[in-house]
Amino acid sequence: MPAIPGVTIRPYRPGDLREAQSIVGAGLMGLVPSAFGRAAGSPSNVALVAALAGAAYALSWSLAWALATGLTALGLLYLLCRGLFSSYVREVLRTDMADIEGSYPWREGCGFWVAQQEAPAAGLVGTVALAGEPAAPGACRLLRLSVRRSARRQGVAEGLVRTALAFASAHGYRQCVLETSVLQQAALGLYRKLGFRTVASELPAQSALLSYLTKITLTHLEKRL
Ligand SMILES: CC(C)(COP(=O)(O)OP(=O)(O)OC[C@H]1O[C@@H](n2cnc3c(N)ncnc32)[C@H](O)[C@@H]1OP(=O)(O)O)[C@@H](O)C(=O)NCCC(=O)NCCS
Repeated sequence: MPAIPGVTIRPYRPGDLREAQSIVGAGLMGLVPSAFGRAAGSPSNVALVAALAGAAYALSWSLAWALATGLTALGLLYLLCRGLFSSYVREVLRTDMADIEGSYPWREGCGFWVAQQEAPAAGLVGTVALAGEPAAPGACRLLRLSVRRSARRQGVAEGLVRTALAFASAHGYRQCVLETSVLQQAALGLYRKLGFRTVASELPAQSALLSYLTKITLTHLEKRL
């Protein structure tokens, strides 16, 4: 595995908890602008905002009111996207990421790795987790991949995923599966580079209204080990 200058990939230690949580949370919240951009640019939402602005104009005969209504609708759409990601981050932080050692026990074929900058910076810059996939015997699932913005495009995520996949092969897993979303083009590029293939795309299992408004589809990928 090629070395990443100034960065070491190593197994998680209990003292890493807060930094690991912060990296995963920041990675997810960093997707809010692209989620909003996708939602705001979708033809049905453009039509909805235009219809609301048009209705405001028809009622008030004021361009200012029409503009304010359109901007308010866009603001609400942004808050909806942000709320969606905030509630997902809260769920992640109170479930597996609340107790990383307990959620990813090595003796059960799970793992959690971090990327650590070498001195003098010495902070964590990336995370990845691996767990058995209960629904598919012989398969594992890759999750919680995230790299701090300041450390991106240096091969950190590739190093983390290669480390997790090497562990998975050594542990006897025959397949690795994962989910990402249409918003995560960097992750999709990485997974394709590492030989994952798309097996399905679908709207996430959330409320129909949220799915309709945000237009975020999930992509399921897999790789034979
Ligand atoms: C996805 C993410 C982890 C990539 O981290 P990274 O350390 O910058 O990625 P790497 O430098 O290891 O890049 C490896 C490969 O991924 C792809 N890639 C990475 N960033 C990319 C980008 N912005 N656009 C397109 N492809 C990209 C490329 O194929 C790259 O290989 P190359 O450098 O030879 O072109 C990072 O962008 C991130 O944390 N995003 C937010 C959280 C997230 O989406 N996590 C994925 C969960 S499924």
